[in-house]
Amino acid sequence: MSSPRSSAPSAICAAPSKRAEIDSLAPDRLTALLRQKNPHPALNDPAVLAQALAALETEQARRASRDQLASYRPYSKQAAFHAAGAASRERLFMAGNQLGKTKAGGSEWAMHLTGLYPDWWRGKRFPDPVKLWAAGVTAESTRDNPQRVLLGPPQKKEEWGTGAIPARCILATAAARGVADGVDSVVVRHVSGGASTLLFKSYEKGREKWQGETLDGVWFDEEPPLDIYIEGLTRTNATDGIVIVTFTPLLGMSEVVRMFLSDDEAKGMQ
Ligand SMILES: Nc1ncnc2c1ncn2[C@@H]1O[C@H](COP(=O)(O)OP(=O)(O)OP(=O)(O)O)[C@@H](O)[C@H]1O
Ligand SMILES: [Mg+2]
Repeated sequence: MSSPRSSAPSAICAAPSKRAEIDSLAPDRLTALLRQKNPHPALNDPAVLAQALAALETEQARRASRDQLASYRPYSKQAAFHAAGAASRERLFMAGNQLGKTKAGGSEWAMHLTGLYPDWWRGKRFPDPVKLWAAGVTAESTRDNPQRVLLGPPQKKEEWGTGAIPARCILATAAARGVADGVDSVVVRHVSGGASTLLFKSYEKGREKWQGETLDGVWFDEEPPLDIYIEGLTRTNATDGIVIVTFTPLLGMSEVVRMFLSDDEAKGMQ
C-alpha cells in the first residue's frame, strides 16, 4: 500500500495565473481595458478593435490547446479512480467504450511526470521527477492511444504538446524503431527543476522486454497478459510505485481482472 505524500508545486511549469482572470472578463470590460492599456487611436475604430479581439481569442485558444492538463476535470468515475491512488498501489479502471479511460490514465501520468498536481487532486503524489512506462497491446495501439493522449496526434509532430503533457514541459522526444510516428521516450520538465522520463512499451514484445528497469509507475492501457502485468508490477516494487490498468472488458474475465474483484463482483461479471 502506498501513502499519500504532499509537495507544493513550484511555478516553473505553472499555467499563467492571469488566464482565468482574462477569461472571466465581460467583453465590454475587456474592450475598456484594451483601450486603456493600448490607447492607440486605431483601436477607436470598431473594426480594428474587433480584429484585435479575434486575434486575442485565437491566441488564447492556441495556448489552451497546448496546456490540456490545466483544463482537465475528471468525471465522477475518473475522479474515484484517481483518488484511489492515495491508498492503493494497483488500480483498475474498467469501463465501457469511450468513457474516458485513456484520458484519465494520460492525465494522471502527465501530472506525475510534471509534478503539476491541480488543487482538486486527492490521489497519489510523487514529490520528485519520475520514471514511468505507458503500454498498449501492440506498438501501433500504444502509439494511437497512450502516445496520442499524452503527446498529441502521432502523425502531426507540429501538434505534439496538445496532449496531456503541456507543450512547455516536453524537453525531448526520441522516435521508436519499427513503427511509423511512434515515440520511444519523452523527457519531461518537472516542477522541481529536474526531468522525468516516459517510455512507451507494448505487450506483443513479450515479457523479456519488460525485465530489468526500476520504475515509479506502469500504465497498462488495455488489458495485459498476466505475466506482463506481474513483470510490470515487479518493476515498481523497489520504489513503492504504482500500476494502473485502463480497459474495456472485451475478453470476459481474465486472470488480471479477477485479481481486482471481490467474489461478489466476479459473480456479477459471469
Ligand atoms: N474528463 C473529461 N473531460 C473532457 N473530455 C473527456 C474527459 N474524459 C474523456 N473525455 C473525452 O471523451 C472521449 C473518449 O475518451 P477516451 O478515449 O479516454 O475513452 P476510452 O474509454 O479510453 O475509449 P476506448 O473505449 O475507445 O478506449 C475523448 O474525446 C476524450 O477526450
Ligand atoms: Mg482507450
